[in-house]
Amino acid sequence: MVKPFDRVAPYYDRWIGRFMSGRLDRMVDLLSCTPDDVVLDLGGGTGLFARRLLGRCGEIHLLDESSQMVEQVRHGKIKTRVGSGTVAPYPDRFFDAVVLSDVFHHIREQDLLLDEVFRLLKPEGRLLVNEVDLDRVLGRIAGRLETLLFTRVFPTGFQHFCTRLEKRGFRLVDEVRDSWSFIGLWKLEAYSLGGLSVSHAELPENVDRFQVQ
Ligand SMILES: C[S@@+](CC[C@H](N)C(=O)[O-])C[C@H]1O[C@@H](n2cnc3c(N)ncnc32)[C@H](O)[C@@H]1O
Repeated sequence: MVKPFDRVAPYYDRWIGRFMSGRLDRMVDLLSCTPDDVVLDLGGGTGLFARRLLGRCGEIHLLDESSQMVEQVRHGKIKTRVGSGTVAPYPDRFFDAVVLSDVFHHIREQDLLLDEVFRLLKPEGRLLVNEVDLDRVLGRIAGRLETLLFTRVFPTGFQHFCTRLEKRGFRLVDEVRDSWSFIGLWKLEAYSLGGLSVSHAELPENVDRFQVQ
């Protein structure tokens, strides 16, 4: 099935790469990887961010639903897969960090995605998010334009996003906000039950779903 980004894949790096460069540097700094970190760039597209992590972390994995975007990655050290982030093909608690760069507002099933991120992260794992911010006027305009000119998107505001993550046991560690977007770094608080936080709002259902031992 053709995905929205399939048709822009060959031009994506040329159009977006230069525009994103400064933000990607800031994201690398915020994530501050160690050489042992196993990182997932979810919705990683052509690998703009993943390439910057090469040599800074242990392993970098990239998952994207668009085969054409993934085809542009072309770097053997980035472990790529084609598939949806809402049913990510990795084991529980596999990653030290997950990155969602300019992805979240492209996904309709956002709660499923956040549950999946939660499942994939090790205790104390980090989540780095780069997103358009519905709390800002320019963010709302950017969201509308994207829906009008390209494909339907589902932006969120920074405050609402924080609340959704807190409910899943994430703590905000750092943030950079500007007139239209935010970059945030969260840490998954782990008390007991492995990667599952006792503060998770729906713990009883998730105990089965995430196969806690
Ligand atoms: C704007 S691009 C961002 C690409 C990359 N993260 C970056 O910063 O350059 C959004 C990406 O999210 C991917 N995407 C959208 N929905 C997805 C889903 N459910 N699962 C995985 N990837 C998805 C798209 O195919 C696209 O490559």
